[in-house]
Amino acid sequence: MPGPCWWSLAALLLGLAVVQGRFVQSDDDGWRCKGFDCELVEMEQPGQRALKVSNRQHVLHGPEQTLTVEAGKTYHIAGQVKLLGHHTGPTNHTLHMIVEFTLPDGYKTSTMADSRHQLSPLDGWVRLHGEFTVPTATQGETRVYIAGPPPTVTFLVGQPTVTRSPRDPSWRNETDAVIRNIRMNNIHINVTKAPGMKDSDITILIKQTNKSFPFGTAVYAKLYNNASQAKYRDFIGKHFNWAVPERYLKWFFIEPVRGQKDYSDALNMIHGLRSQGLKVRGHNLIWPAKVFIQKWVQALSGDDLREAVKDHIEETMNKTRGLVEHWDVINENLDEHWYKNRLMDPDFDLETYRLAHSIDPNVKLFINDYAVVATGSDTEKYLAEALRFKEANVGLYGMGVQCHWPNNLEPDPYLIKERLDLLSQAGVTIWVTELDVWAVDENTRADYYDRALRSLYGHPAVEGILFWGFWDERHLRGEEATLASGDDLTLNAAGRLVFDLFENQWMTRETHTLSESGSAFTVRGFHGDYELHVMHKMQERTDLKQTFTLLPGADIRLSVKMTGY
Ligand SMILES: *[C@@H]1O[C@H](CO)[C@@H](O)[C@H](O)[C@H]1NC(C)=O
Ligand SMILES: *[C@@H]1O[C@H](CO)[C@@H](O)[C@H](O)[C@H]1NC(C)=O
Ligand SMILES: *[C@@H]1O[C@H](CO)[C@@H](O)[C@H](O)[C@H]1NC(C)=O
Ligand SMILES: *[C@@H]1O[C@H](CO)[C@@H](O)[C@H](O)[C@H]1NC(C)=O
Ligand SMILES: *[C@@H]1O[C@H](CO)[C@@H](O)[C@H](O)[C@H]1NC(C)=O
Ligand SMILES: *[C@@H]1O[C@H](CO)[C@@H](O)[C@H](O)[C@H]1NC(C)=O
Repeated sequence: MPGPCWWSLAALLLGLAVVQGRFVQSDDDGWRCKGFDCELVEMEQPGQRALKVSNRQHVLHGPEQTLTVEAGKTYHIAGQVKLLGHHTGPTNHTLHMIVEFTLPDGYKTSTMADSRHQLSPLDGWVRLHGEFTVPTATQGETRVYIAGPPPTVTFLVGQPTVTRSPRDPSWRNETDAVIRNIRMNNIHINVTKAPGMKDSDITILIKQTNKSFPFGTAVYAKLYNNASQAKYRDFIGKHFNWAVPERYLKWFFIEPVRGQKDYSDALNMIHGLRSQGLKVRGHNLIWPAKVFIQKWVQALSGDDLREAVKDHIEETMNKTRGLVEHWDVINENLDEHWYKNRLMDPDFDLETYRLAHSIDPNVKLFINDYAVVATGSDTEKYLAEALRFKEANVGLYGMGVQCHWPNNLEPDPYLIKERLDLLSQAGVTIWVTELDVWAVDENTRADYYDRALRSLYGHPAVEGILFWGFWDERHLRGEEATLASGDDLTLNAAGRLVFDLFENQWMTRETHTLSESGSAFTVRGFHGDYELHVMHKMQERTDLKQTFTLLPGADIRLSVKMTGY
């Protein structure tokens, strides 16, 4: 393994721009090349380019970019390379991805983020990826460069990305700081004693009784409406304040055969949920995925189809008027286009939102899609869609991000933040509408939920979080995604973690004895409803009990006047 000096010398000869996680497309795509030839070439996918590197003088020559990174943090770096040439047999070339840091006094040190050996042009595009931690002493520039094959070899380099690594533990502190900032406010308490009272005899209890942050689940009407499933219903009432009917409001469920409509499952459940104090999302009016469209609808076209859609939306919104707070008007509009195609109308979606908004201007309208936060293939497309809806002024309120994590994929707090940051550029509120992670081992699953929930709750654009079910007797993803098991809905490790977050760590309960806190003190509390209790000599002074609500962005001042009885 070559020493640091060897690499540094090479780095001096070379010359790139990556902003955290996103590739900046400038005229040169951020690349710098010194002492050899570089040329940007178009790749197979439109809009994507690669750098063609040729005529190097040394194995250590290679294109370079400057990285925007922070000392002490751990990053993941990835890029694509492809050797060019006409070799018919295997060759044994090596490609390194090297990251070089600048220390005080200009000293350089470097680390090999990844190396690939035995490469030949026959391998095509090869992914280089690895991790590095920026030394805490780093001052000045950090660079990455790609080098290694003999100078005569020409190669392509494409799309380097740098993201904070999911193994970088700072995400926890960072999300905690955001949570403290956006999900909490101050409760200032000022106690005035009556003459003769001692500070050590007075204790104030600040107890949150209800959280205002929306935290919910998808609910199965067949279970919920079944009187012998009271445990399911009770569990929902105990742990959640929002709900969404899993499939019972979808058109194919309500009207499988033309004219034979049945809203009773959905409406019974919605009334039940509301009587338990839960709020309800409506999901969904239209789902343009052909497999979920009834045969009779598929047989329609033109004005008949438009009319059927309009009737369905109007009747469903009429029936749920005042009962649901949200509607996912069109579900998964990014990749499913049956209605648009059938009607040959690219603006069918905008028209549908306009219609829904005119039927009930009070209900909040959402788009709702996947592969935008849990994975990122459609994040940019979703931003563009939100902007398109916003500009068309069709009454869009929010973006639903589904958040079904693929099997065994550990949620990456840095990617979640990066994707939410990008989506929030639309200036539209974000709701997590269908959360689940998948892991066989319940402790691993608990860790996955911990990463996901802290990252989501710890992002300012997120206004609510709903799970897509929780029980092993009924979960779309199977028991590997669940929080509770068996007829008694016993919490597993994932469930214990999740409800500890929402009912303990993210709820406020503090006691202050004046001899320790002073008679004027501050409690930083999570938003929601509260009770303040006053104890004097271990006895509650019920006459001094107060209730109040702590709202986002508004600190509260309370005074307690300790008169004698
Ligand atoms: C290829 O090169 C690497 C590094 O130089 C060496 O360790 C390895 O033995 C070589 N493999 C073959 C098949 O020549
Ligand atoms: C996170 O915060 C704790 C407590 O304030 C501190 O001890 C720890 O060093 C921090 N960790 C990181 C990775 O910043
Ligand atoms: C607490 O209340 C007393 C009496 O009303 C007042 O004089 C004092 O300034 C208050 N202290 C604080 C910190 O608000
Ligand atoms: C809890 O708070 C929510 C939101 O502020 C409110 O709508 C709901 O009625 C409250 N529930 C109870 C039981 O007080
Ligand atoms: C209700 O639940 C019970 C107990 O699980 C089950 O035996 C029964 O079939 C259910 N009834 C309906 C109508 O689904
Ligand atoms: C919906 O409600 C409006 C207002 O009450 C009514 O005019 C309309 O006919 C209803 N539409 C359907 C399809 O039920």
